[in-house]
Amino acid sequence: MEAAEYFSKDFEWEELKAEVENDSAFRFHLLPFQPPNRPSQTAPEDDSAAWKRFHIRHSSGKFFKERRYLLKEFPELVSRGECSKVLEVGCGNGSTALPILRGNEHIIVYACDCSSETLERAEEIIDAATSASASVRHRFHTFCCDFSIVGFPKWLACHTCREAFLQKQQSCVSDVKESNGSYFNDSCSPEESGCCIGGVDFVTLIFTLSAVPFQRMPTSIKECFSVLKPGGMLLFRDYGLYDMTMLRFESDQRVGFREYMRSDGTRSYFFCLDTIRDLFAGAGFIELELEYCCVKSVNRRNQKSMRRVWVHGKFQKPM
Ligand SMILES: C[S@@+](CC[C@H](N)C(=O)[O-])C[C@H]1O[C@@H](n2cnc3c(N)ncnc32)[C@H](O)[C@@H]1O
Repeated sequence: MEAAEYFSKDFEWEELKAEVENDSAFRFHLLPFQPPNRPSQTAPEDDSAAWKRFHIRHSSGKFFKERRYLLKEFPELVSRGECSKVLEVGCGNGSTALPILRGNEHIIVYACDCSSETLERAEEIIDAATSASASVRHRFHTFCCDFSIVGFPKWLACHTCREAFLQKQQSCVSDVKESNGSYFNDSCSPEESGCCIGGVDFVTLIFTLSAVPFQRMPTSIKECFSVLKPGGMLLFRDYGLYDMTMLRFESDQRVGFREYMRSDGTRSYFFCLDTIRDLFAGAGFIELELEYCCVKSVNRRNQKSMRRVWVHGKFQKPM
Protein backbone atom coordinates (compact mmCIF):
# COMPACT_ATOMS: atom_id res chain seq x y z
CA MET A 1 0.00 0.00 0.00
CA GLU A 2 2.93 2.30 0.67
CA ALA A 3 3.94 2.38 -3.00
CA ALA A 4 0.31 2.31 -4.15
CA GLU A 5 -0.46 5.48 -2.24
CA TYR A 6 2.36 7.19 -4.10
CA PHE A 7 1.45 6.21 -7.66
CA SER A 8 -1.43 8.27 -8.84
CA LYS A 9 -2.64 6.99 -12.19
CA ASP A 10 -4.19 3.55 -11.76
CA PHE A 11 -7.39 4.87 -13.36
CA GLU A 12 -8.74 8.10 -14.78
CA TRP A 13 -10.75 10.21 -12.34
CA GLU A 14 -13.06 11.38 -15.18
CA GLU A 15 -14.06 7.75 -15.86
CA LEU A 16 -14.92 7.17 -12.21
CA LYS A 17 -16.90 10.44 -12.16
CA ALA A 18 -18.96 9.40 -15.20
CA GLU A 19 -19.65 5.98 -13.67
CA VAL A 20 -20.73 7.39 -10.31
CA GLU A 21 -22.87 10.16 -11.80
CA ASN A 22 -24.73 7.66 -14.02
CA ASP A 23 -25.46 5.21 -11.23
CA SER A 24 -28.83 5.82 -9.59
CA ALA A 25 -27.62 4.19 -6.35
CA PHE A 26 -25.27 7.14 -5.88
CA ARG A 27 -27.71 9.87 -6.92
CA PHE A 28 -28.21 11.25 -3.40
CA HIS A 29 -24.52 12.13 -3.16
CA LEU A 30 -24.93 14.59 -6.04
CA LEU A 31 -28.04 16.41 -4.83
CA PRO A 32 -27.88 19.84 -3.21
CA PHE A 33 -27.93 19.43 0.55
CA GLN A 34 -31.26 20.15 2.27
CA PRO A 35 -30.67 20.90 5.97
CA PRO A 36 -33.15 18.92 8.10
CA ASN A 37 -35.96 20.85 9.79
CA ARG A 38 -34.79 19.87 13.25
CA PRO A 39 -31.99 22.07 14.70
CA SER A 40 -29.30 19.49 14.00
CA GLN A 41 -26.12 21.52 13.46
CA THR A 42 -23.62 20.71 16.16
CA ALA A 43 -21.87 23.38 18.25
CA PRO A 44 -18.31 24.05 16.99
CA GLU A 45 -16.71 22.45 20.05
CA ASP A 46 -18.66 19.21 19.38
CA ASP A 47 -16.50 18.57 16.33
CA SER A 48 -13.27 18.48 18.31
CA ALA A 49 -15.03 16.61 21.15
CA ALA A 50 -15.82 13.84 18.65
CA TRP A 51 -12.12 13.62 17.69
CA LYS A 52 -11.11 13.59 21.38
CA ARG A 53 -13.45 10.63 21.99
CA PHE A 54 -12.10 8.95 18.87
CA HIS A 55 -8.52 9.17 20.15
CA ILE A 56 -9.48 7.90 23.61
CA ARG A 57 -11.18 4.88 22.01
CA HIS A 58 -8.15 4.20 19.79
CA SER A 59 -5.51 4.88 22.41
CA SER A 60 -3.82 1.50 21.82
CA GLY A 61 -1.97 3.08 18.92
CA LYS A 62 -3.16 0.40 16.47
CA PHE A 63 -4.58 3.22 14.44
CA PHE A 64 -1.07 4.52 13.82
CA LYS A 65 0.36 3.96 10.36
CA GLU A 66 3.53 5.74 9.35
CA ARG A 67 3.09 7.56 6.04
CA ARG A 68 6.28 6.31 4.45
CA TYR A 69 5.26 7.56 0.99
CA LEU A 70 5.11 11.15 2.24
CA LEU A 71 8.67 12.13 1.40
CA LYS A 72 8.22 10.84 -2.15
CA GLU A 73 5.21 13.10 -2.54
CA PHE A 74 6.89 16.06 -0.85
CA PRO A 75 10.66 15.76 -1.43
CA GLU A 76 11.20 19.40 -0.43
CA LEU A 77 10.83 18.27 3.19
CA VAL A 78 14.11 16.38 2.78
CA SER A 79 16.01 18.54 0.34
CA ARG A 80 16.16 21.62 2.55
CA GLY A 81 19.59 21.53 4.14
CA GLU A 82 19.30 24.24 6.74
CA CYS A 83 17.17 24.02 9.90
CA SER A 84 13.68 24.36 8.53
CA LYS A 85 10.51 24.35 10.57
CA VAL A 86 7.35 22.41 9.84
CA LEU A 87 3.92 22.80 11.37
CA GLU A 88 1.97 19.51 11.12
CA VAL A 89 -1.70 20.44 11.62
CA GLY A 90 -3.93 17.74 13.13
CA CYS A 91 -0.99 15.42 13.76
CA GLY A 92 -2.94 12.54 15.32
CA ASN A 93 -0.55 9.81 16.45
CA GLY A 94 2.34 11.23 14.44
CA SER A 95 1.88 9.28 11.18
CA THR A 96 3.12 12.28 9.18
CA ALA A 97 5.52 13.77 11.73
CA LEU A 98 7.60 10.59 12.11
CA PRO A 99 8.73 10.15 8.48
CA ILE A 100 9.57 13.87 8.29
CA LEU A 101 11.72 13.69 11.44
CA ARG A 102 13.44 10.53 10.22
CA GLY A 103 13.97 11.90 6.69
CA ASN A 104 15.69 15.16 7.58
CA GLU A 105 17.92 15.42 10.62
CA HIS A 106 17.89 19.21 10.50
CA ILE A 107 14.14 19.70 10.49
CA ILE A 108 12.08 20.82 13.49
CA VAL A 109 8.46 19.67 13.66
CA TYR A 110 5.78 21.58 15.57
CA ALA A 111 2.69 19.40 15.76
CA CYS A 112 -0.79 20.33 16.94
CA ASP A 113 -4.05 18.52 17.42
CA CYS A 114 -7.35 19.28 19.15
CA SER A 115 -6.88 16.15 21.28
CA SER A 116 -4.28 16.16 24.07
CA GLU A 117 -4.57 12.34 24.31
CA THR A 118 -3.33 11.87 20.77
CA LEU A 119 -0.49 14.35 21.33
CA GLU A 120 0.74 12.26 24.27
CA ARG A 121 0.47 9.15 22.15
CA ALA A 122 2.38 10.84 19.28
CA GLU A 123 5.20 11.74 21.66
CA GLU A 124 5.37 8.15 22.94
CA ILE A 125 5.36 6.72 19.41
CA ILE A 126 8.08 9.08 18.24
CA ASP A 127 10.17 8.36 21.34
CA ALA A 128 9.82 4.61 20.82
CA ALA A 129 10.51 4.73 17.08
CA THR A 130 13.55 6.93 17.36
CA SER A 131 14.99 5.90 20.74
CA ALA A 132 18.45 5.41 19.24
CA SER A 133 18.53 9.01 18.14
CA ALA A 134 18.32 11.47 21.02
CA SER A 135 18.24 14.38 18.58
CA VAL A 136 14.77 13.50 17.27
CA ARG A 137 12.91 14.12 20.52
CA HIS A 138 14.39 17.64 20.68
CA ARG A 139 13.07 18.39 17.23
CA PHE A 140 9.44 17.43 17.96
CA HIS A 141 7.21 19.91 19.82
CA THR A 142 3.49 19.42 20.38
CA PHE A 143 0.71 21.78 21.40
CA CYS A 144 -3.04 21.39 21.72
CA CYS A 145 -5.40 23.66 19.75
CA ASP A 146 -8.48 23.65 17.57
CA PHE A 147 -7.05 25.71 14.73
CA SER A 148 -10.46 26.12 13.07
CA ILE A 149 -11.86 28.00 16.09
CA VAL A 150 -9.05 29.67 18.04
CA GLY A 151 -6.32 29.70 15.39
CA PHE A 152 -2.65 29.05 16.14
CA PRO A 153 -0.78 30.44 19.14
CA LYS A 154 1.00 33.75 18.59
CA TRP A 155 4.45 32.35 19.29
CA LEU A 156 4.44 30.52 15.94
CA ALA A 157 4.56 33.80 14.00
CA CYS A 158 4.42 37.07 15.82
CA HIS A 159 3.54 39.83 13.37
CA THR A 160 4.71 42.63 15.64
CA CYS A 161 8.14 41.01 15.74
CA ARG A 162 8.15 40.43 12.02
CA GLU A 163 7.32 44.07 11.29
CA ALA A 164 9.94 45.40 13.69
CA PHE A 165 12.43 43.07 12.07
CA LEU A 166 11.52 44.18 8.55
CA GLN A 167 11.90 47.83 9.50
CA LYS A 168 15.30 47.11 10.99
CA GLN A 169 16.31 45.25 7.85
CA GLN A 170 15.15 48.00 5.54
CA SER A 171 17.60 50.40 7.14
CA CYS A 172 20.48 48.14 6.06
CA VAL A 173 18.95 46.51 3.01
CA SER A 174 22.01 46.43 0.80
CA ASP A 175 23.95 44.38 3.34
CA VAL A 176 21.49 41.61 3.98
CA LYS A 177 19.19 41.09 1.01
CA GLU A 178 19.61 37.48 -0.07
CA SER A 179 19.75 36.18 -3.62
CA ASN A 180 16.18 34.91 -3.41
CA GLY A 181 14.94 38.39 -2.59
CA SER A 182 14.07 37.56 1.01
CA TYR A 183 15.15 39.86 3.80
CA PHE A 184 15.18 37.00 6.27
CA ASN A 185 18.31 35.12 7.17
CA ASP A 186 19.32 32.80 9.94
CA SER A 187 21.85 35.07 11.58
CA CYS A 188 19.31 37.74 12.38
CA SER A 189 15.73 36.52 12.52
CA PRO A 190 12.58 37.73 14.26
CA GLU A 191 12.74 34.78 16.61
CA GLU A 192 15.83 36.30 18.20
CA SER A 193 13.51 38.50 20.19
CA GLY A 194 12.55 35.34 22.09
CA CYS A 195 8.78 35.84 21.92
CA CYS A 196 8.15 33.80 18.75
CA ILE A 197 9.75 31.43 16.27
CA GLY A 198 9.13 33.81 13.38
CA GLY A 199 6.92 31.56 11.26
CA VAL A 200 7.41 28.15 9.67
CA ASP A 201 8.82 27.04 6.31
CA PHE A 202 6.20 24.33 5.75
CA VAL A 203 2.67 23.60 6.89
CA THR A 204 1.48 20.03 6.38
CA LEU A 205 -2.28 19.48 6.17
CA ILE A 206 -2.56 15.73 5.71
CA PHE A 207 -6.11 14.33 6.02
CA THR A 208 -6.99 17.10 8.48
CA LEU A 209 -8.89 19.73 6.47
CA SER A 210 -11.58 17.16 5.57
CA ALA A 211 -12.27 16.79 9.32
CA VAL A 212 -13.11 20.50 9.66
CA PRO A 213 -16.69 21.66 8.91
CA PHE A 214 -16.83 23.18 5.43
CA GLN A 215 -17.94 26.63 6.60
CA ARG A 216 -14.84 26.90 8.83
CA MET A 217 -12.36 25.87 6.09
CA PRO A 218 -11.69 29.40 4.69
CA THR A 219 -10.60 30.79 8.07
CA SER A 220 -8.67 27.60 8.87
CA ILE A 221 -6.62 27.95 5.67
CA LYS A 222 -6.03 31.65 6.34
CA GLU A 223 -4.63 30.64 9.75
CA CYS A 224 -2.16 28.30 8.01
CA PHE A 225 -1.20 31.13 5.64
CA SER A 226 -0.58 33.50 8.54
CA VAL A 227 2.01 31.26 10.25
CA LEU A 228 4.05 30.57 7.11
CA LYS A 229 7.14 32.60 6.29
CA PRO A 230 6.98 34.44 2.95
CA GLY A 231 7.85 31.85 0.30
CA GLY A 232 6.86 29.00 2.66
CA MET A 233 4.85 26.05 1.38
CA LEU A 234 1.67 24.32 2.41
CA LEU A 235 1.71 20.60 1.58
CA PHE A 236 -1.74 19.08 1.22
CA ARG A 237 -3.22 15.61 0.92
CA ASP A 238 -6.81 14.64 1.63
CA TYR A 239 -9.88 12.74 0.47
CA GLY A 240 -10.93 13.30 -3.14
CA LEU A 241 -14.42 13.42 -4.61
CA TYR A 242 -15.88 9.93 -5.30
CA ASP A 243 -13.31 8.16 -3.15
CA MET A 244 -14.63 4.72 -2.23
CA THR A 245 -15.16 5.80 1.39
CA MET A 246 -17.48 8.63 0.26
CA LEU A 247 -19.66 6.24 -1.73
CA ARG A 248 -20.09 4.05 1.35
CA PHE A 249 -21.87 6.77 3.34
CA GLU A 250 -25.66 6.52 3.60
CA SER A 251 -27.91 9.45 2.72
CA ASP A 252 -28.76 10.13 6.38
CA GLN A 253 -25.06 10.63 7.13
CA ARG A 254 -24.90 13.72 4.93
CA VAL A 255 -24.37 16.93 6.91
CA GLY A 256 -23.62 19.15 3.91
CA PHE A 257 -22.82 18.99 0.20
CA ARG A 258 -20.00 16.37 -0.10
CA GLU A 259 -19.79 16.43 3.71
CA TYR A 260 -20.63 13.44 5.95
CA MET A 261 -20.67 12.53 9.63
CA ARG A 262 -19.57 9.10 10.84
CA SER A 263 -21.50 7.36 13.59
CA ASP A 264 -18.85 8.51 16.12
CA GLY A 265 -19.49 12.20 15.30
CA THR A 266 -16.28 12.81 13.29
CA ARG A 267 -16.70 14.46 9.91
CA SER A 268 -15.32 13.93 6.47
CA TYR A 269 -15.47 16.20 3.44
CA PHE A 270 -14.55 14.99 -0.08
CA PHE A 271 -12.76 17.58 -2.20
CA CYS A 272 -12.88 18.30 -5.90
CA LEU A 273 -9.95 20.22 -7.37
CA ASP A 274 -11.98 23.40 -7.96
CA THR A 275 -13.04 23.60 -4.31
CA ILE A 276 -9.42 23.29 -3.17
CA ARG A 277 -8.29 25.81 -5.78
CA ASP A 278 -10.88 28.37 -4.60
CA LEU A 279 -10.19 27.81 -0.89
CA PHE A 280 -6.43 28.24 -1.20
CA ALA A 281 -6.54 31.13 -3.68
CA GLY A 282 -9.02 32.82 -1.33
CA ALA A 283 -6.43 32.70 1.46
CA GLY A 284 -3.72 34.24 -0.78
CA PHE A 285 -1.81 31.09 -1.79
CA ILE A 286 -0.14 30.47 -5.16
CA GLU A 287 -0.94 27.01 -6.56
CA LEU A 288 2.15 24.97 -7.46
CA GLU A 289 0.68 21.47 -7.86
CA LEU A 290 -2.86 20.16 -7.67
CA GLU A 291 -4.10 16.79 -8.90
CA TYR A 292 -6.12 13.70 -8.07
CA CYS A 293 -4.24 10.58 -7.04
CA CYS A 294 -6.28 7.59 -8.25
CA VAL A 295 -5.18 4.28 -6.83
CA LYS A 296 -6.65 0.77 -7.11
CA SER A 297 -5.98 -1.42 -4.13
CA VAL A 298 -7.29 -4.80 -3.01
CA ASN A 299 -8.92 -5.33 0.36
CA ARG A 300 -6.91 -8.13 1.96
CA ARG A 301 -9.91 -9.49 3.87
CA ASN A 302 -12.49 -9.85 1.08
CA GLN A 303 -10.23 -9.46 -1.99
CA LYS A 304 -12.49 -6.68 -3.30
CA SER A 305 -10.90 -4.05 -5.50
CA MET A 306 -11.19 -0.52 -4.10
CA ARG A 307 -10.81 2.71 -6.01
CA ARG A 308 -9.24 5.33 -3.80
CA VAL A 309 -9.14 9.00 -4.70
CA TRP A 310 -6.96 11.52 -2.91
CA VAL A 311 -6.14 15.13 -3.66
CA HIS A 312 -2.48 16.09 -3.71
CA GLY A 313 -1.55 19.77 -3.58
CA LYS A 314 1.35 22.17 -3.00
CA PHE A 315 0.73 25.85 -2.37
CA GLN A 316 3.10 28.72 -1.71
CA LYS A 317 2.81 31.92 0.27
CA PRO A 318 4.03 34.77 -1.96
CA MET A 319 7.40 36.33 -1.13
C1 LIG B 1 -7.41 11.76 9.91
S1 LIG B 1 -6.43 12.39 11.19
C2 LIG B 1 -4.91 12.80 10.33
C3 LIG B 1 -3.70 12.71 11.21
C4 LIG B 1 -2.34 13.02 10.57
N1 LIG B 1 -2.30 14.31 9.94
C5 LIG B 1 -1.91 11.96 9.59
O1 LIG B 1 -1.24 12.25 8.64
O2 LIG B 1 -2.24 10.80 9.82
C6 LIG B 1 -7.12 14.00 11.48
C7 LIG B 1 -6.57 14.62 12.75
O3 LIG B 1 -6.97 15.98 12.82
C8 LIG B 1 -7.35 16.28 14.15
N2 LIG B 1 -8.29 17.40 14.08
C9 LIG B 1 -9.56 17.39 13.58
N3 LIG B 1 -10.09 18.62 13.64
C10 LIG B 1 -9.14 19.43 14.18
C11 LIG B 1 -9.10 20.82 14.51
N4 LIG B 1 -10.16 21.61 14.24
N5 LIG B 1 -7.98 21.34 15.07
C12 LIG B 1 -6.91 20.52 15.32
N6 LIG B 1 -6.90 19.20 15.03
C13 LIG B 1 -7.99 18.67 14.46
C14 LIG B 1 -7.94 15.00 14.68
O4 LIG B 1 -7.90 14.91 16.10
C15 LIG B 1 -7.06 13.96 14.01
O5 LIG B 1 -5.97 13.60 14.83
